[in-house]
Amino acid sequence: MTPEQLIALAKEAMTHAYVPYSGYKVGAALLCADGSVYQGCNIENASYTPTVCAERTAIFKAVYDGHRDFVAIAVCGGKDGVITGSFPPCGVCRQVMREFCNDDFTVYLVGAGESYETLTLSQLLPHSFSAKEHMN
Ligand code: THU
Repeated sequence: MTPEQLIALAKEAMTHAYVPYSGYKVGAALLCADGSVYQGCNIENASYTPTVCAERTAIFKAVYDGHRDFVAIAVCGGKDGVITGSFPPCGVCRQVMREFCNDDFTVYLVGAGESYETLTLSQLLPHSFSAKEHMN
């Protein structure tokens, strides 16, 4: 699975977004260690706070299916699904990644056209709290 293939799946996932309130469509594609991929989109709610991000949709789908070993995620988003720049994971999604992923978990931030940036979870969430490290 190349970054480009994962990004293409994130772009496809973005088309599933349910965004009647913000209009910002977000898509994610999560690569598991066994090569399987889980796609997610954001799903909004009239009460706002129940809204779930694309990244968490993908991660929770994968965990439900028994996966806990993740390699990378591609994330893209934009108003009405038009990608004009990167759409970085929110803090809550970074913390959910931290629960299951190592420091070197790769996050592809999709930009306009064919562009993308490659970051690690430790770059996105330095000095983070995780049960594995802090509750022994
Ligand atoms: N959103 C995501 O799906 N992922 C993020 O990491 C950031 C924000 C969604 C939530 C909401 O539906 C829309 O983007 C605007 O905030």
